[in-house]
Amino acid sequence: MTRVRVTIPYLMEKKVKHEQISMMTCYDYPMALLQEKAGIDIILCGDSLGMTVYGYQGTLPVTMDMMVVHSAAVKRGAANSFVIGDMPFLSYQVSPQEAVRNAGRLMKESNVDCIKLEGGAVAVEAVKYIVNAGIPVMGHLGLTPQSTSALGGFKAQGRSAEAAYRIIEDAAALEAAGVCSILLEAIPPEVAKIITAESKVPIIGIGAGIHCDGQLLIVHDMLGFFDRFVPKFVKKYADMNGVILAALNQYKEEVEKGLFPAKEHCYGMPDEELSKLKNMLHILTV
Ligand code: KIV
Repeated sequence: MTRVRVTIPYLMEKKVKHEQISMMTCYDYPMALLQEKAGIDIILCGDSLGMTVYGYQGTLPVTMDMMVVHSAAVKRGAANSFVIGDMPFLSYQVSPQEAVRNAGRLMKESNVDCIKLEGGAVAVEAVKYIVNAGIPVMGHLGLTPQSTSALGGFKAQGRSAEAAYRIIEDAAALEAAGVCSILLEAIPPEVAKIITAESKVPIIGIGAGIHCDGQLLIVHDMLGFFDRFVPKFVKKYADMNGVILAALNQYKEEVEKGLFPAKEHCYGMPDEELSKLKNMLHILTV
């Protein structure tokens, strides 16, 4: 079945019609093909790949080069989903000019539809410059993983009235600066509800409750790739860890017992060619 290409007007229409938007992270081509096939609206090639793909403790070591390569692979697999490339730590904080250059590089070299960056009022200047260059931007508020050191860890945000108020103000500032959407991470549903009701752009939540215009999950978490801790807001839709481990164990056992490869996994040779070969070898060894 052919899909409609997801665009900013399409996402805006969904918000207006109160139709929920599906969003998921993705870091490579095969998973992008599956997400495209499943009709996921927005695919985020997030800098969470630092943890899910590269095994770092956080997102800070992620570079522009890594984001460009992975985002390009994702877009190649998902022509119709709205693909967002994440701006890694220090690619947009130093100056608005550098932010535009890096955002432009992500768009040019990865062919993504939009970029995402973290932060509220502090990011407004960079957002304005990037948007003025014709590049769509998604904002990201609440638990912003690039600031976990300053936030004191991977903790829910906006749980006091003052902190919630600041996030609501930040959302308004980002919208005024021209973002096409905002991601809210790990904040109380009541706060996300206020932001979603007040904003004209689609608000996507990850750990932000049911009232947002759409939902995001980290693909490795929701598919159960790891047997380690996952955040409270994750629902595991599959146990890929168990499925893959069972397959690996079976493969190892069959190799060790000489059960793999079987005849059907081997290339045949015509009988006459085989006897010709045997004759040749006979001649050689005589
Ligand atoms: O990088 C990412 O995947 C993200 C999510 C954690 C929201 O920004």
